[in-house]
Order: sequence, then C-alpha cells, then structure tokens
Amino acid sequence: MDSMPFKRLSRGCTNIYGSRFASEHMPVDELPYDEMPKETAYRMIKDDLVLDGNPMLNLASFVTTYMEDEAEKLMLESSNKNVIDHEEYPKSVEIEQRCLKMLANLFHSPKQDGETTAIGTACIGSSEAIMLATLAMKKRWKNQRKAEGKDTSEPNIIMSTGVQVCWEKAARYFEIDEKLVPCTETRYVIDPTQAVELVDENTIGICAILGTTYTGQYEDVKGINDALVAKGLSIPIHVDAASGGFVAPFVNPDLVWDFQLPNVVSINVSGHKYGLVYPGIGWALWRSPEYLPKELIFNINYLGADQLNFTLNFSKPASHIIAQYYQMIRLGRRGYQAIMTNLTNTADYLTEQLKRMGFTIMSDGAGNGLPVVAFRLGSTQNILFDEFSLAHKLRERGWIVPAYTMAADCEKMSMMRVVLREDFTQSRCDSLVHDIQAALKALVDQEVRSIQRYQA
Ligand SMILES: Cc1ncc(COP(=O)(O)O)c(C=O)c1O
Repeated sequence: MDSMPFKRLSRGCTNIYGSRFASEHMPVDELPYDEMPKETAYRMIKDDLVLDGNPMLNLASFVTTYMEDEAEKLMLESSNKNVIDHEEYPKSVEIEQRCLKMLANLFHSPKQDGETTAIGTACIGSSEAIMLATLAMKKRWKNQRKAEGKDTSEPNIIMSTGVQVCWEKAARYFEIDEKLVPCTETRYVIDPTQAVELVDENTIGICAILGTTYTGQYEDVKGINDALVAKGLSIPIHVDAASGGFVAPFVNPDLVWDFQLPNVVSINVSGHKYGLVYPGIGWALWRSPEYLPKELIFNINYLGADQLNFTLNFSKPASHIIAQYYQMIRLGRRGYQAIMTNLTNTADYLTEQLKRMGFTIMSDGAGNGLPVVAFRLGSTQNILFDEFSLAHKLRERGWIVPAYTMAADCEKMSMMRVVLREDFTQSRCDSLVHDIQAALKALVDQEVRSIQRYQA
C-alpha cells in the first residue's frame, strides 16, 4: 500500500522539498542502502543543523567562531593533508615548527647559542597538551625516584579546585592523586602558599592556570614559583595557559608567568581559543628537551622515513596548523594586541553596565584577567529567581550565556559568564546589555505577578 496520502504529481523536475527525501525520515541508525543526490544530502544536513545555536551568540565558549575568508580558504585547501606524514608534507611540518618557535619566543623560552631551547608539538587542543605535559612530569618524577631506589607508586599533582575538567581526566587516566587547593567564596584561584605547603616527595608538579575557566582570572604563577624557590624546592610548574597564553603577552606584557620563571617547565595554549583558529588546535611546549622524557617520544618509519612523534593522537589535518600560522603572520604582535585590547575594553564596559544593574562581579578587569565577565545576582537586586532563570530567559533572544555553579567547596554559589571573543564588538555588547535589562525586567514582572496571584 502506498504510504503517501496523496500521489506526487511530477517526478524529477521538482526541488528537494518536492522530492521523496523531504517526506521521509532522515536516516538515524541504519546506514541507508540507497545513495542520494549530493545537493539533497547537503541541503538536508544543513537544514537539520539550523536547530544548533548561533556560534556568534554563544558567549559560553572560548573557542573561535570567526576567521577571515583567506584563512578559511587555506584551511579548506589543507584539510586533506595528514600532517603526521612528515615525508609527504614537509612544508606543513616546517610550518608547525615555525609556529612553535614563535610561541617559544613569545613565552620567553631560554636560549642557547641564540636559539630558543623550548620544544613542543601541535595537539588537537589544550586537553591533549595537558595530558602530554602531565605524563612528562610523571615520567620525570618516576625516573628520578627509581634512580634513588624510592617508591614510585603514589604520584600526586597539586592544583586548585578551579581547574578545567581535563586536569581531573589527566589525573584519573594516568593514576595520579589530586592534591586540591580549595577555592573559597571570595578567592576563586589557587593560593600559592597553600599550594606549596602541599608539596611532598611524591609531587610530580603544580598546575597554575593563566585564565581560569570559571572566572577568567590569572593564577599567581610567580607567587608559586617564588614560594618554591624560597623553600629550595625544584618542583616543576606547568602553566595551563589555554586561554591566557594568547592574551596576557599582548594586554599585560609585564606579567611574569612563563618560562622566565625557573620552575615553569611546560606550558599549554589553545590555538583555537584566543589563538584565533577554529576548533581543533592546541600547543604543548617544554622549556627544553630534558623536560620531555625520551620514553614519551616514538620514532616511526612506516610513513616512508624516520620521524619523531609524541602526541596522543596520530593523524590530524594540517589545516589548523596552517591557519595558526596565517593568524600569526597576518596579525603579528600588533594585530593580536589590537584585538585583545578591544576585547578587554569591551569586557570592562560590560562589567560597568552589569554593576549598574546590581550584579556582583567575580572576574578581574583592566587586563588583569581574560576578557571574560563572570557575575552573579547581587544581594541588592532583591529577587527570588536565580542565574539559571536569567540564562534561560536570555536564550529566548538567542544569547547563550551559561549559568553554572562554582568549583568544589563553593559549589553552592551560582554564577554566569560572558566570554568575549574576537567578533564581540561594542555594538553587540550594547545589544546584550539591552537584552539583559529586558530579561531582568521580564523576570521581575513575572515574579511580581506570581506574588500577587499567591496573595490573592
Ligand atoms: C583553563 C583551561 N584549560 C584547559 C582547557 C581545555 O582546552 P581544550 O578545549 O583546548 O582541550 C580549557 C577549556 O576551556 C580551559 O579553559
């Protein structure tokens, strides 16, 4: 029996919405037996995706949502190159090394005979870079302990409770105990003194975050370094500069957080955050080769020549590395500085507007943290609804402003966060301010109506 209630009148000369594909369910579990025309597959998937949020209005994410056409073109043109294949794509590999050199210089790598000593690799993101850095710290600690004939069964790592989830993953995946420095209701970053007090003979390293995911604040890397030095401890510090690595050097160049500090042995940065490349790239750098134990480096020859490899993933497209290089030479220091300064100024403006509305601000302004505004409803606002209701209300206008709870130990505190990315102009900020005001008013009106109904 024909499942169609009406017979289709014409065949072959209609557009996709008159074709049988428009009246059939999209394949969701079984690989379809028949093929479909490419235009139809394209249109149906494009249409399916319209229910995704608009990346430009997604203020939850640190990840790049805008790139110039030329960068996109280069990405497309190099997305069929597997950069692991050094023999076939030597130029792409060289470009990866150029990016690494530029980052090594930006992060003040020590120099030997005029050359930076730092080594590194492109990764799929900061998480992979952090996994590698954690493994390197663990392996070095283990090698040292073994050489001294000591127990190696209980490695630990020190970090604040405000770390991104990838640190908890690294600790769990690689069987390292987490020694956590708690955040408090007034301090959302690590306390350097407490961190150093937790050091023991099994500590593989300390993580310091340059721009926390919760509030965008910079942890005091120098404070940790100096406290270690004062105690004569050579415990390694890894700086998680996922976001700050491409912000602080341009907005706050006098901040000392990188390889200038003797105990900083490794740094990660996300190319796909303030490095201004679409998602899929991070960078791991070690101060010098001695901090990357040889056991983590593999020599393979099955792609046609001997080559070194020390990433968790094997294959990845060259496109993101090429795009990172494009951004670096297209923008230069001045370009990055101009963009990051604009964002910092806009963040400060947004902070002022939110304060005027009665919100409590949790982030640091004036370039002392990331261009991120973290805030929560203030006690003077005198309202019953919470941040989650406000986030929900803003969603009606398309804005994605997350409401979430703070890190462990102050998880009762709910808050909201706006991450300002390259395409967040003053004009878009004005629209957001307007919509937050309107959302607050709508929620207050609704609250008043509920109270009146209840009283009645
Ligand atoms: C501080 C910090 N570290 C690490 C990560 C993980 O980075 P990626 O998404 O590049 O893996 C993030 C992501 O937001 C982050 O904010």
